[in-house]
Amino acid sequence: MLARQGLISDERGLLIVERSADAAPLGTVTWHAVSHGPNPESRAWNIGIALVPEARGHGYGVEAQQLLARRLLATTQVNRLEASTDVENLAEQRALDKAGFSREGVLRGAQFRAGGWHDMVIYSLLRQDVSAERRG
Ligand SMILES: CC(C)(COP(=O)(O)OP(=O)(O)OC[C@H]1O[C@@H](n2cnc3c(N)ncnc32)[C@H](O)[C@@H]1OP(=O)(O)O)[C@@H](O)C(=O)NCCC(=O)NCCS
Repeated sequence: MLARQGLISDERGLLIVERSADAAPLGTVTWHAVSHGPNPESRAWNIGIALVPEARGHGYGVEAQQLLARRLLATTQVNRLEASTDVENLAEQRALDKAGFSREGVLRGAQFRAGGWHDMVIYSLLRQDVSAERRG
């Protein structure tokens, strides 16, 4: 589907994360639409990130997710961004905390991966959270 529609459609997107100093590619960020009700206003973006191993642990994960969040709030109408990660993925949980996301809870048995069901922690960032941060 991505190949046919390009890397960004109304339902999803993918961008390359580059280091600004030298344009080295560090990984990708993605987003896809999730719906919390039948009306368009109840649509949110679920974001994801994967950095290449050499790029991890330098703070790029925090910055890339902050930049993606800012871009999605500026260019679309959604009120809510969300991100979920395995309960064992402490690096991503810390990165989301530092990027300003709030931890909401655990989605039990939500993701099937590597032959089994995994519990996921869900985080969110609302439009009002970013406005409050700018004001405060
Ligand atoms: C998860 C990921 C995006 C985090 O980005 P990153 O650039 O490596 O992380 P950052 O350097 O921004 O730092 C994140 C924080 O996590 C902490 N951290 C890293 N590994 C950790 C671990 N195993 N346990 C606890 N904290 C950890 C870091 O110390 C840092 O916190 P600090 O600044 O308070 O010290 C990146 O490592 C990655 O792409 N991993 C593989 C793919 C993945 O897991 N994607 C998310 C899946 S949903």
